[in-house]
Amino acid sequence: MSTPKTLTGDDSIKTWLEHPVGGPIVRDLLSQAGQNPDVLKPVQRLAIKRLVKLSKGQFSQQMVDDLVARAAAGEVPAGAADAATEGRAPAESAAEAADGAPEVERPEWIERLDHGRFSGRTVIVTGAGSGIGRATASRIAREGGRVIAVDVSQERLDEFASEHVGADIVTLVADITDDAKVAEIVAAAGERIDGLANIAGIMDDMTPIGELTDAVWKRVFSVNVDGTMKLMRAVVPTMLTQGIGSIVNTASEAALRGSAAGVAYTASKHAVVGLTKSTAFMYGPSGLRVNAVAPGPTITNIEATFASPLGAERVRQAMAILPDAAEAEALAASITFLLSDDGVNVNGVVLASDGGWSAA
Ligand SMILES: NC(=O)c1ccc[n+]([C@@H]2O[C@H](COP(=O)([O-])OP(=O)(O)OC[C@H]3O[C@@H](n4cnc5c(N)ncnc54)[C@H](O)[C@@H]3O)[C@@H](O)[C@H]2O)c1
Repeated sequence: MSTPKTLTGDDSIKTWLEHPVGGPIVRDLLSQAGQNPDVLKPVQRLAIKRLVKLSKGQFSQQMVDDLVARAAAGEVPAGAADAATEGRAPAESAAEAADGAPEVERPEWIERLDHGRFSGRTVIVTGAGSGIGRATASRIAREGGRVIAVDVSQERLDEFASEHVGADIVTLVADITDDAKVAEIVAAAGERIDGLANIAGIMDDMTPIGELTDAVWKRVFSVNVDGTMKLMRAVVPTMLTQGIGSIVNTASEAALRGSAAGVAYTASKHAVVGLTKSTAFMYGPSGLRVNAVAPGPTITNIEATFASPLGAERVRQAMAILPDAAEAEALAASITFLLSDDGVNVNGVVLASDGGWSAA
């Protein structure tokens, strides 16, 4: 029998869970917090140290250091060893992939900046306080762009700005459903608007049509559809004067299939596709590019509630083929590609950025 490897913070959560010493330690920690190891499944390919940032400090660097020290000391929690490894392949033998071949530990994706890609460009980013919007605004700013960062949350925008001291960022607290605020956003951008990343959006409560309330329908449509439309309408005149401009809207897997959310969110994201394609068709000859990204599961702060037992059961069944969740930076990579000149010949597409989920 070979000696199990020495675990570090750079090893994936999957490697930790399958390790004869690391696995029981992590499971013990989770059970103390009343959690099941399944909660880590969507992020299992990430290095365990990434949990510090993802959990916003709830899982601290100190906890990672303690885990590494306990694993190195071979401290299997009392009574945990047998139960924890039950039904699992011994960790020192290679895990097997679905096709029977030895599973390969995949290298992690690392964001690589394209310095200067957005130099001289002004890009409006909505939802810039959190998740995909924040990662996109950050990437544009770090690649030299001037960012008009919009969100309803002053606190989140302040935090974002404080992480990017020296970058060219204008923060603006605004609700994208408010016409006066939309006018303020455009005014803050000034003479040039090279890009609009329409990212702010909200989920629904997974209700099917028979249980849908008017309140949920109106709220979801007002942010996801009206807000997206209002910003598009507001930037188009400037982009037409310039003869160039790139708009990226945020659709969803729910824009491509009926099984990813409730009826309100699903219909709203299908509407985002309609806004995207019509506008691309109308203004393509005038130099505007209008595309959408359809994110699959992504680690952000978005909140989905389950107000319907039927909705919950149906959606959870469909989630059985869910790919691993992506980090928001992976979505920012797709969005900034479409926003930048690298997307020069791409117009009117809905780019699935979902790890292949939509191909299933
Ligand atoms: N996270 C996912 O798995 C996922 C999957 C598919 C699509 N999406 C879409 O991605 C987009 C971003 O979502 P996220 O997951 O990053 O969510 P998030 O909640 O982490 O971030 C959304 C941000 O938008 C802001 N916002 C909400 N309503 C607003 C309004 N009316 N005006 C201005 N700002 C507003 C919020 O304050 C928040 O900071 C959404 O359109 C969402 O539908 C997300």
